[in-house]
Amino acid sequence: MVVAKKWIYAKSFTGYPTDENFRLEEETLADVKENEFLAEAIFLSVDPYMRPYMLQYPIGSTMIGGQVAKVVESKNAKFPVGAYVHGNFGWRTHTVCNPNKGDPNSPPYVLPDFGQEPLSLGLGMLGMPGNTAYFGFLEICQPKQGETVVVSGAAGAVGSIVGQIAKIKGCTVIGIAGSDEKCDWIKTIGFDHAINYKTADIDAELKKAAPKGVDCYFDNVGGKITEIVRGQMNTLGRISVCGTVSCYNQNKAMVSDPQRDFVWKQLKQQGFLVWQWTERWLEGIQQNFKWIQEGKLKYRETVTEGFENMPKAFVGMLKGENFGKAVVKV
Ligand SMILES: NC(=O)c1ccc[n+]([C@@H]2O[C@H](COP(=O)([O-])OP(=O)(O)OC[C@H]3O[C@@H](n4cnc5c(N)ncnc54)[C@H](OP(=O)(O)O)[C@@H]3O)[C@@H](O)[C@H]2O)c1
Repeated sequence: MVVAKKWIYAKSFTGYPTDENFRLEEETLADVKENEFLAEAIFLSVDPYMRPYMLQYPIGSTMIGGQVAKVVESKNAKFPVGAYVHGNFGWRTHTVCNPNKGDPNSPPYVLPDFGQEPLSLGLGMLGMPGNTAYFGFLEICQPKQGETVVVSGAAGAVGSIVGQIAKIKGCTVIGIAGSDEKCDWIKTIGFDHAINYKTADIDAELKKAAPKGVDCYFDNVGGKITEIVRGQMNTLGRISVCGTVSCYNQNKAMVSDPQRDFVWKQLKQQGFLVWQWTERWLEGIQQNFKWIQEGKLKYRETVTEGFENMPKAFVGMLKGENFGKAVVKV
């Protein structure tokens, strides 16, 4: 008999989450049946999307999210005992999974061989954030050599990868992040310029860093930063709208009407969900893995120890405490 621990969405989020939004519970799991397997979490992900997405779920739901887990019991040959899998099992230590049930956009899968790289990368550079960067930047921004690219949320899981891919494609890359330490770090991994949005005059610094204007903007944050970057976009510029983390903990709109820039500069802006490329999932992982091996992609992770610290890690990430991908080690 296996008893799982799980984190419950105990109270509706308003503003930044606090301890009272979460409750730790135990659940006795049913036996593993035909086609099912039992997975034991090793690393769990905390991601910005959890903050807005949970609002759609009833109070009392298990917190949603991806994890890297080990198969410890199985009645499904595709998920043998000992395999490491990625599954969107939520904030839980143990899960009985029937891979034929659940969201078809994000089925569980056995992780490809990461060689010497840590399994936690299955939640970061070699998982959903890596594919978000790979597809969301390349497919939507279509960067060309010599162009100028701006990335907001630049020291985070997705942004730090986008900036490096932009360098691989021969672009000049400007990152916007929330501390001097983060700005220093992204420059060590190849960004040409970094702007600390908390202390700098973003508009003035961006004009200096991008004297010929901005061709591509990968937007992780929305809000005021985006309004400023959009003001410096070139004609026929491309904006990939990945997320609006600056707004997730707010309850009001904070920016002015953007339509004028869109019309006068003939900008193209496209939003996306990474699940659009589910069919090409392994392509993204394999390309990013190749770039890691070639030394062209560098990663950093912020690892919080202990399943009991899931809420702490989640709030810390929302407040910008993470460099690169934020994960929790059980
Ligand atoms: N469309 C998709 O399919 C998809 C998939 C994955 C992620 N996303 C989106 O991509 C974005 C980045 O996700 P991630 O997983 O890479 O998270 P992350 O960047 O690793 O972590 C969140 C970061 O947001 C920044 N932040 C928090 N409040 C902010 C504010 N008011 N203004 C500017 N920055 C703020 C913090 O960095 P600072 O210290 O720099 O403030 C924090 O470290 C999010 O918007 C997320 O929702 C979208």
